[in-house]
Amino acid sequence: MTRYTQIKKLDGPEALRDHLDRIGIGLPVSDRVDPSGVLADSVTFTDGSAGEFTIPNRFAVLPMEGWDGTTDGAPTDLVRRRWSRFGSSGCGLVWGEATAVHPTGRANPNQLVLDERNAEAIAGLRSLLDPAQVSGLQLTHSGRWCRPVADPVPRPAQPHPVLDARQHLRGDEVMSDGELDELIEAYVAAAIRVADAGFDFVDVKCCHGYLLHELLGARDRSGRFGGDFEGRTRFFRTVVERIRAERPHLAVAVRLSAFDFVPFRRGADGVGEPEPSAGAPVPFGGTSDGTSIDLDEPNRFLDLVGELGIGLVSTTAGSPYTNPHIQRPAYFPPSDGYQPPEDPLVGVARQIAATAELRAAHPNLTFVGSGYSYLQDFLPHVADAVATVGGTDLIGLGRMILSYPDLAADVLQGRPMRRRAICRTFSDCTTAPRGGLVSGCYPLDDFYNEMPERIELAAIKRRLREQQR
Ligand SMILES: Cc1cc2nc3c(=O)[nH]c(=O)nc-3n(C[C@H](O)[C@H](O)[C@H](O)COP(=O)(O)O)c2cc1C
Ligand code: SF4
Repeated sequence: MTRYTQIKKLDGPEALRDHLDRIGIGLPVSDRVDPSGVLADSVTFTDGSAGEFTIPNRFAVLPMEGWDGTTDGAPTDLVRRRWSRFGSSGCGLVWGEATAVHPTGRANPNQLVLDERNAEAIAGLRSLLDPAQVSGLQLTHSGRWCRPVADPVPRPAQPHPVLDARQHLRGDEVMSDGELDELIEAYVAAAIRVADAGFDFVDVKCCHGYLLHELLGARDRSGRFGGDFEGRTRFFRTVVERIRAERPHLAVAVRLSAFDFVPFRRGADGVGEPEPSAGAPVPFGGTSDGTSIDLDEPNRFLDLVGELGIGLVSTTAGSPYTNPHIQRPAYFPPSDGYQPPEDPLVGVARQIAATAELRAAHPNLTFVGSGYSYLQDFLPHVADAVATVGGTDLIGLGRMILSYPDLAADVLQGRPMRRRAICRTFSDCTTAPRGGLVSGCYPLDDFYNEMPERIELAAIKRRLREQQR
């Protein structure tokens, strides 16, 4: 198995640049990060209906759910702790986590649900943020990955031979057009609650294999919500237009898996490999063989996004269920996953390059890039360089925000980085919820490190290692 160079062993930006040259990856790296330089710039985005919003700097908290709401979908103290840390992070934008529009659409039994019962408690999360931060909430229905109770209850958008086999589906689980019509109403009702809670924007989530992402690629679906591009985008379009009509002062944003590959599986040596996917639908933003990027349709989708007056987009990739290495590049992948099939830096560079290409083609949209956490000590150096060359407008922080919530504040105030807090991509924040535990940074956040769940997590990892031998 190939061992890739660990980032923490590189002793400065120059060493990272040499390493990138050696492995043939083009990624810009600044030698030094000026605290009042490009990362401190404010960014203004324009929503065609709600107007202008000014974000005080270029750092953004990415949506990061914690599998830690009540089983009714209300926030707990753990959720509030996370949001308080977002509030004092120094990031100019907070993109609030996946929140289900209906209890049956949850990805786990502890995901937040924005129904009438929880509206006030979820509104309370907004008050934990800094009033200067621009904030929004991500609305979701998990589609194929619904798990509202202990056992999964998949509701795919279209058949998929590989995934249907993995999930032991009968074939009659696909959501009907009538169910989708009803779901539009649930999205609109939830978006009204987002507006009334005082958030600046709502994200109609289209990523990570969940329902709206699967619909974008639903070439094999018949009826009004599949087939051609018009049909595959109908659900998204209708939801956005309906939200506009109900709450014109609420900005609408979208988080998009800008490209996707076929499902990967654990090969004989433990390393990830593409699963042969003959007869499977072409992934949205992927080539017909499903192993590289084709941005033709994502570009078309972003044209539509612009026509709908949306000004804010976050780019991400793939799905944590089927090809996590393209979404969350990691040196130590989740214990139920596969060893990286490529240097994780390739995954980082792939997301950064795709975002840059889309941004160049859509100058009126404001982009939040993702996948930076693997850069570790050099996250600020690459962020600075990418923003300087116009590769993105904002730098999204995912896993790093869990281990090192005030990284942005340190960078913007010129303080040295706290090395002990830097996310080393141990993936415990993914392994824990896969094992039914709350998600958090068990290795580096003392609060989680001292929880009894840490012992359980160690046992889960041990069991998985034994099964894989
Ligand atoms: C524990 C965990 C929870 C996540 N929850 C969400 C979510 O609610 N919505 C979403 O769009 N992405 C979610 N993501 C993906 C992240 O937003 C981000 O795209 C990904 O971690 C890559 O960015 P990074 O390299 O900074 O971690 C989650 C990732 C992790 C590890
Ligand atoms: S558990 Fe902590 S160190 Fe590991 S990937 Fe998550 S945030 Fe990073």
